[in-house]
Amino acid sequence: MTEYIFKGKTIALGVSGGIAAYKAVDLASELTQAGATVKIIMSENAVKFVSPITFQSITCQPVITDLFASNPQGRIYHISISEEADVIVIAPATANILAKAACGIADDTLSTTIVATRSAVVMIPAMNNYMWLNKATQHNLETLRERGIHIIEPEVGRLACGEEEAIGRFPKTETIIDYLKNLLTVVRGLEGKTILVTAGGTHEPIDPVRFIGNRSSGKMGYAIAEAAEARGGDVVLISGPTCLRPPYGIKVVNVETARQMKQAVLDYLPQADAVIMAAAIADFRPSEESVEKIKKEKMPKSLGLGLNPDILQMVSEKEGRRIVVGFAAESENIIESAVEKLKKKNLDLIVANNIGKPGVGFGSDLNLAILIDRSGPMGDLKTYRKSDLAGRIMDWLVGALKRDAAD
Ligand code: CTP
Repeated sequence: MTEYIFKGKTIALGVSGGIAAYKAVDLASELTQAGATVKIIMSENAVKFVSPITFQSITCQPVITDLFASNPQGRIYHISISEEADVIVIAPATANILAKAACGIADDTLSTTIVATRSAVVMIPAMNNYMWLNKATQHNLETLRERGIHIIEPEVGRLACGEEEAIGRFPKTETIIDYLKNLLTVVRGLEGKTILVTAGGTHEPIDPVRFIGNRSSGKMGYAIAEAAEARGGDVVLISGPTCLRPPYGIKVVNVETARQMKQAVLDYLPQADAVIMAAAIADFRPSEESVEKIKKEKMPKSLGLGLNPDILQMVSEKEGRRIVVGFAAESENIIESAVEKLKKKNLDLIVANNIGKPGVGFGSDLNLAILIDRSGPMGDLKTYRKSDLAGRIMDWLVGALKRDAAD
């Protein structure tokens, strides 16, 4: 966890009355351990699920349940908290608190804090799947999003009401922490800049059914797109096929093959201040694509391959000044090979990944990586959560764009 982001920050954690209230205890604990001052506000129903004493013991802060309670200086608590909080997190957010917030209802301490604040508000809904899918709930979410309220969507999985595989689960604590880290990042610095990000692998068709692909999940590129957006950038995310949900507020261009990705990159390149090539583009494609499905009896003895365009190389050779960041997926001589790629492709930064270790890299939430710019490697190869690594790449980019503007 990147403690430095949470140190000195005040987080108001509003707990509403759902079974996931017990998971908010873990969230409060992690945030407190990371150095934040966590002030808890509980709705009347939340208190039926978890005792305020639990939160108080974990956060060492008073827990507010009464609308008219005041702090030691005599100020009404919900007003003082709504002013001093860097962010207000509602976790879990029930359908009821979403509806109240969408309508501006302020009839208890939690809903009043939301109406009174000028700080960022993050809602983390968790509920029964039908309540989540209910048109009124969805309409309320849309209204809240339009007003700039952040929503971390629930996950699919087992629900407390007995559903085995349905939407509505409270997200993992790490997912919430990563989101807050991006939101609270002091360095913004990408306002007015267009950041082009590629993500995922490509599918190179053999026939209408089969393709050559790779193990890329797209998680790294999506995390970069989100981190760039959190720093105020206008993001265009060019994505190969993935199972990931399109990030809210980011323009996503979906492509399938390397050649389609190349075209999409060319289309958006003129307006890009930076290009981050996180996609695992297939280096080769079948030299012939059959229009019809190839029958078993007609199976070719071998598959002819042709080379795909190297998009990164092409971008770095195109006229115009922009920052170009590439990735290097390596399983041996990680740093040396990456430095070679940085030079060969004339990049400003390369993110070298060790893909040879189990549990990190393709498909995982972790990456064993190191950033290398033209002055050399920064630190050592380290295991990062992809969202954390994305934040570091963006922090580097903010600095690089500043240096560029000063030249
Ligand atoms: N890349 C690209 N076009 C390709 C292949 C790769 O733009 N056809 C980009 C990737 O997005 C990545 C970088 O090039 O940012 C390096 O990709 P990698 O697969 O590590 O290296 P290659 O250049 O393909 O070299 P090799 O596979 O031989 O290591």
